[in-house]
Amino acid sequence: MTAPPQPIRRSDARPPTPPAVGVRLAGTGHALPETRLTNADLERVLDTSDEWIVQRTGIRERRVCRRERGEGVHSLALDAARAALADARVDPADLDLVILSSVTGDTLVPATSCRIAADLGADRAGAFDLAAACSGFVYGLNIAHDLIRGGAYRTICVIGCDAMSRIVDPSDRRTVILFGDAAGAAVLRPTDDTSKGVLAQCMHADGSRWRDLYLPHSRLDIPDGDDPDDTPLHCLRMRGREVYKFAVITFSDLIDETLAKAGLVADDIDLFIAHQSNARILESARERFGLPEQKMYVNIDRYGNSSAGSVPLCLSELRAAGRVGDGNLVMFVAFGAGLTWASSLWRV
Ligand code: COA
Repeated sequence: MTAPPQPIRRSDARPPTPPAVGVRLAGTGHALPETRLTNADLERVLDTSDEWIVQRTGIRERRVCRRERGEGVHSLALDAARAALADARVDPADLDLVILSSVTGDTLVPATSCRIAADLGADRAGAFDLAAACSGFVYGLNIAHDLIRGGAYRTICVIGCDAMSRIVDPSDRRTVILFGDAAGAAVLRPTDDTSKGVLAQCMHADGSRWRDLYLPHSRLDIPDGDDPDDTPLHCLRMRGREVYKFAVITFSDLIDETLAKAGLVADDIDLFIAHQSNARILESARERFGLPEQKMYVNIDRYGNSSAGSVPLCLSELRAAGRVGDGNLVMFVAFGAGLTWASSLWRV
């Protein structure tokens, strides 16, 4: 006779909790094209002036890729990732994941990150591109951090890179003065020091405002109300004033939201590393929070707005200058097309 079936009993044992782990910025690096495009260069070909550009944006020059030299997102991002890996003393073969934040990748298919991973020698790494425009690197940083904190991955390279010169109309004085090309990268690794890593983060989008900054590939992409002949297809269209107002308000709100999540005040933060979109936008946030100049890094005068490259370029410059100290509280803040906006508050 067979025994009657036993009722299934639930185990009292809980699933194992992942080990508490901190996350550290193990290395950073950046790469820039050699070619400089100064305001004087633009004055020669456009109805603009150095005075107008500096007053309205704070930009004096930007870097631009030379396609005939093979420069673009692939080459810049690869150089930045190599520099970050060398700084972290990490063998590319140990990478678990490569995330490339970019909206100007050399190819959509395959994702540019796949070629970068292969060229790095990151043979066993997963790779994907992340499109969140100027907010892209901060989105990537948050995702990579949480993948490591959760225990699924150990070593991730996050790259932010855009070659905006590919998508601005060189004859459009409203956009060409603003944008430049750059790449920055960070290698993230786990650490036993559980105090290190993200204390608070935000990622937001409002797609109802996509028309404020977009790139049409067909006339069908151009919404009613926008002039189809205003800018050529495949080139960026921007409602500058609208984006400006959005950025000023969002910048402050985002800092407030992030501080509230962490239970901190602006004074507690050692360094703000913000997307470089316009010196006046950075200045208004600095004044709003009563921050001293050295707490809000500005390099837009030298590089313009390099979209997803801007935040990691700042981070790499600051670390190289020894301005990101062990245990410092650093807040990354970015906003851009989408519209998107994101923050990441770290104890580094
Ligand atoms: N040189 C000279 N004059 C220019 C010019 C240029 N490069 N670009 C525009 N102008 C003119 C305009 O035609 C306009 O002339 P008008 O008054 O005769 O019509 C005048 O300058 C004012 O234009 P406006 O667009 O109102 O200027 P602004 O003070 O808003 O500054 C931006 C323009 C683009 C610098 C500013 O709106 C800005 O920074 N916006 C945010 C953009 C941004 O950050 N985008 C990326 C988001 S990640």
